[in-house]
Amino acid sequence: MKSATDCYQLANGVKIPCIGFGTWQTPDGEVCVSAVREALAAGYRHIDTAQGYGNEASVGRAVRESGIPRDELFITSKLTNSEHGYTKTLAAFEASLQRLDMDYLDLFLIHWPNPIAFRDRWEEANAGTWRAFEELYRAGRVRAIGISNFRPRHLDALLKTAEIAPQINQIRLCPGDTQETVVQDCRSRHILLEAYSPLGVGKALQAPELVALAQKYGKSPAQICLRWSLQNGFLPLPKSVTPARIRENLQVFDFELAEADMQTIAALKGIAGYAADPDTITW
Ligand code: A2P
Repeated sequence: MKSATDCYQLANGVKIPCIGFGTWQTPDGEVCVSAVREALAAGYRHIDTAQGYGNEASVGRAVRESGIPRDELFITSKLTNSEHGYTKTLAAFEASLQRLDMDYLDLFLIHWPNPIAFRDRWEEANAGTWRAFEELYRAGRVRAIGISNFRPRHLDALLKTAEIAPQINQIRLCPGDTQETVVQDCRSRHILLEAYSPLGVGKALQAPELVALAQKYGKSPAQICLRWSLQNGFLPLPKSVTPARIRENLQVFDFELAEADMQTIAALKGIAGYAADPDTITW
């Protein structure tokens, strides 16, 4: 990868820019509009939002105001936890498009496999949702479909009735939270891994080992984290509302981490905490 517009290719042939702009915890309204505006001006062409983030309308507004042709952008949203099941999923998808003011999505994900509202019947709910996803995909309303926070057992369950395999699994991946079992499972099934919280929600950045590596490479700790993510073949989704950081997080294509340093970073167990267990979340 040489720049933010270089792409990974999904199992269905769709190309996806190798770094995306994250918007989790970015407040709706002017903060989100200006962050996404900054990101687009800096060169991001891939924006990640979700129904649950409550900021789709602001993402849509920033995209519209940028004047960048829609087909030069890759826009992701995610199905919120209360709307699993065939009928609700179709309605929720349309509501996302309305808020974004777009007529298609590039990627739609099931945000969580086992929401509390469906805990006693999550497999059935996901099967219905996935049937809706496949229908939207076949109708050209969405160019790729996938999952988020799925572990192998959730994916195995989905694949019992799926006709189209998910092309992406978006999970928490950062230094010290490397989810090896999920990563190996997805790699063996040609499912691209997107990395949310690639900076460990900012918590990884003070680790002395990362600060030392930053000095060694003449980069910031955030850039070390993002480069580590890319060299693992992940697709990082860094979030920031700060213009200088938004730009900084794209300057990750002019250096390479040595293999020994990649290992050091992976081994920083728990420096930024761990992913929530999708089977015990309370949302
Ligand atoms: P802010 O949005 O105030 O700029 P993650 O992407 O892992 O979820 O991390 C997001 C957090 O990391 C946010 O708190 C964000 O702060 C902070 N952050 C993003 N980029 C950088 C950077 N380059 N340097 C320091 N902190 C950063």
